[in-house]
Amino acid sequence: MEKLLIKGGRVVDPSSSTDAVLDVLVEGNKIVLIGKDIEGEGFQVVDAGGKLVFPGLVDMHVHLREPGQEHKETIESGTRSAAAGGFTTIACMPNTDPVIDTPAMVEYIKLKAEKAGYVKVKPVAAITKGLKGEELSPIGELVQYGAVAFSDDGRPVMNSRVMRRAMEYSSMWDVPIISHCEDTDLSGDGHMNEGEMSTVLGMRGIPAIAEEVMVARDIAIARFTGARVHIAHVSTAGSVELVRRAKAEGVRVTAEATPHHFSLTDRDVDGYSTNTKVNPPLRTYEDVEAVKQGLRDGTIDAIATDHAPHHRDDKEVEYAVAAFGISGLETALSLAVTNLLNSGILTPIQLAERMSTAPARILGIEAGCLKEGGTADITVIDPDIEYVVDVNAFKSKGKNSPFDGMSVRGKAVYTIVDGIIKNI
Ligand code: DOR
Repeated sequence: MEKLLIKGGRVVDPSSSTDAVLDVLVEGNKIVLIGKDIEGEGFQVVDAGGKLVFPGLVDMHVHLREPGQEHKETIESGTRSAAAGGFTTIACMPNTDPVIDTPAMVEYIKLKAEKAGYVKVKPVAAITKGLKGEELSPIGELVQYGAVAFSDDGRPVMNSRVMRRAMEYSSMWDVPIISHCEDTDLSGDGHMNEGEMSTVLGMRGIPAIAEEVMVARDIAIARFTGARVHIAHVSTAGSVELVRRAKAEGVRVTAEATPHHFSLTDRDVDGYSTNTKVNPPLRTYEDVEAVKQGLRDGTIDAIATDHAPHHRDDKEVEYAVAAFGISGLETALSLAVTNLLNSGILTPIQLAERMSTAPARILGIEAGCLKEGGTADITVIDPDIEYVVDVNAFKSKGKNSPFDGMSVRGKAVYTIVDGIIKNI
């Protein structure tokens, strides 16, 4: 059996409130010992001095594009990108072609991911058949086949009656509904945040209320049904406040924010780079500060990338017709270290909670902790490495990143899945 000794790292595990310099011994796919100065022979030694040893990172919001849009990403390239970014488990969204709304599609994703062999993939299945927002998918059956959550992400479920039924059914299996909160009557054909910048740049805007009215609606439906709702890609100060109040009231609501929504503002759209075009759009400085505060106080439970790879043909066009989305798997950790950890907004334990323990808990999957006898999914992070983002070095096929050329700090040096190093 392969043995791996991760030596002298700062071991951070939110599930046991551990934050101490320790060694971690891995045998096969299990962690067998966590302790001080572990000695012995026959190990491959990973020198983790000065590094953070986190439970393997979990990204609960990834678009893998396969099947149907393999020119943008495949399960192979997307999972390789995830491993490069430090993720050991990802949940993939169902807006593929065909849509993930049948047991056969859930099986297909699982088999392809296993064959690729980089990271663990948990399928999120569609709330409604074909993402049409009309008829529910066979939720119970999809859970049996391994769907961990339900979402029509990329689109909202505009019909409140359908959303009510979806929450009633999903609560029977206690799986979360991941809501893409957007009132499409309000967002219309906007391209960026509605505000001073959209006026200056002469573009149609997407107002904050397009998101907030749906966050309020879904909280109301979750309160009424007792179901679990997870708000995807929170981008406005108003949404953060709605989630904060609902949590205080005891509604079963959780939320995520993306690295681009805590790192960039609508001022970055100046210059019209289509790599800044994303849905929900980049918001104002005040919104970014509120998202950071939400991450700090736990109102926002998780950091998720909304990795949305696109082909050059979808982005090298004028802003108004470009596709929405940012390729995020390979910059997420660096942006979190640079903008949240190094700036003192999150402690290492909070960062591990937001990027591993919380998303694993929300999805109800076995991940997100470092414990003896547990699965050896581990991410070793160098928080001090400074480098310049280069999209051409991405493993993802999606080179659409507004962070290209930006200097950042922090990188996953080892992504260990089931005891095997996957990012090399
Ligand atoms: O920018 C986005 N791109 N937001 C979404 O919700 C969907 C995603 C995509 O699939 O490209």
